[in-house]
Amino acid sequence: MKRQWWKEGIVYQIYPRSFRDSNGDGIGDCRGIIEKLDYLKELGVNIIWLNPVYKSPNDDNGYDISDYQDMMDEFGTMADWEELLEGLHNRGIKLIMDLVVNHSSDEHQWFVESRKSKDNPYRDYYIWKDPKYDENGNRMEPTNWPAAFSGPAWEYDEETEQYYLHLFSKKQPDLNWENPKLREEIYSMMNWWFEKGIDGFRMDVINLISKYPEYEDIEDGKENKTFMNGPRLHEFLKEMNQNCISKHDVMTVGECFGVSLEQGQDLVGADRKELDMIFQMEHVCLGEGPKGKWDVMPWKLTQLKEIIGKWDRALEECDGWGSQFLMNHDQPRSVSKFGNDKEYRVESAKMLATFTLTLKGTPYIYQGEEIGMTNIEIDDINDYRDLEILNHYKEAIAKGESHDKLMEAYNYKGRDNSRTPMQWDDSKNAGFTAGTPWLKVNPNYKEINVKKAMENKDSVFHYYKDMIALRKNNLGMVYGEYRPILEEDEKIYSYLRIYGDEQYLVVLNFSKDSVECSLPKDIEIGDLVISNYSNRGEILENKMKLKPYEAGVYKAKI
Ligand code: NOJ
Repeated sequence: MKRQWWKEGIVYQIYPRSFRDSNGDGIGDCRGIIEKLDYLKELGVNIIWLNPVYKSPNDDNGYDISDYQDMMDEFGTMADWEELLEGLHNRGIKLIMDLVVNHSSDEHQWFVESRKSKDNPYRDYYIWKDPKYDENGNRMEPTNWPAAFSGPAWEYDEETEQYYLHLFSKKQPDLNWENPKLREEIYSMMNWWFEKGIDGFRMDVINLISKYPEYEDIEDGKENKTFMNGPRLHEFLKEMNQNCISKHDVMTVGECFGVSLEQGQDLVGADRKELDMIFQMEHVCLGEGPKGKWDVMPWKLTQLKEIIGKWDRALEECDGWGSQFLMNHDQPRSVSKFGNDKEYRVESAKMLATFTLTLKGTPYIYQGEEIGMTNIEIDDINDYRDLEILNHYKEAIAKGESHDKLMEAYNYKGRDNSRTPMQWDDSKNAGFTAGTPWLKVNPNYKEINVKKAMENKDSVFHYYKDMIALRKNNLGMVYGEYRPILEEDEKIYSYLRIYGDEQYLVVLNFSKDSVECSLPKDIEIGDLVISNYSNRGEILENKMKLKPYEAGVYKAKI
């Protein structure tokens, strides 16, 4: 396995809108992040992934970009951003930016031009199709594709009597990657950012950039070839790699919903020259019923093990590299979803930290995860800000669904759970803003905040710090083979990490019960490296008693 800085790094994701507001307008900004650089350094992370900071009308909080080479007004100026980059680099922290090139904003100059006429030079920068008509002559969308944020994926434009494709909101028209001129513009924009000194990109929904040319309807019970993993995906990524990525010492990680193991291998295989890593999203979709995201179902630990295990094997086979994360800005809080945000919040947040930071693959921590921030409980739909929730609510209520059930699902899985302002201290608005925050602060901020966590040696924060240091100082934690054990257990997740003589045993209780387990006899359990309990359960001849959410990393020999 070739050593690389991005394999050995630990990523911290910043959602700038909610991190720290320096000017009192209620919205986080670049100068707010600058204020907190020493905090990041102290935590020990060495790569920052910054969600989009580009010019945007903010229909989808910056994922609708109207100028790829300018700053969002609310976030400050380009000079502020440059100071941020310098501040990070001075502290030995790299910066990766968000690349959102499946779609732009409808307010991007390209789209403003594109929609003017069928022969406008920018027409083919987007995907325009003629309407279809039903037997009564009623106009219909070109295909029956749904948009991710409710309604159809097509919007009719009176001006030129055609529909444009938008897989997300109608203010996020899809770019036409079939057009070589568009691709060149994107590559030159990427190079412009690389020349400014950034260290890589996280690529938004990158496996959607190639669409199947047939534009067929989705049919139940059929393997649909529509807008995901289209036939030219790998060709486009190779071209991008050749034109810009390979010319710089940078890292790439592509967000990929709905990729198979084989497709994943083709995206990150060592000899493929496409991407360094992908975010496979299967484990964050655990608990989703057949009707999709808001159809909440229980999930099992063995399902999580299976997903982590099969991706590990697939990446081994192709000599590729993975990413490990339990949440991001689109997911509920990890301690609320995978742990216990009530009586075992601290223990389970530390257990999850042990998990993310001892797996093979680059770990990603999302802001606030390092202090065990939790989901928020919202009971008034008007307190949500996320367009995904607001659009879905309108549609679902019109169909007669129950308000209470919907709110329950949003409170459990909604994106605003992770987007509530970062909790810095117990002052007004958790020290996030002197103004009115754009999204409600979680009322538990008096209890859960950075200041309090830093003062308490037993806090989730200090545990993260220790785990991060452990990972950074032991190559076996990074490159060691991942060998799962107790694979059928529904409460305990356990595995070995093996790197020559450097060997670890990781034992994690994912339940609120005290449990006992018998570890295979051929494992010699050595000294404890780290645990989330000071008075942890007992070990007797490979039988272990674990307390609720107990986590332990031991030296081992096999
Ligand atoms: C995935 C991003 O993470 C999400 O926040 C965004 O809404 C969609 N892609 C559309 O860009």
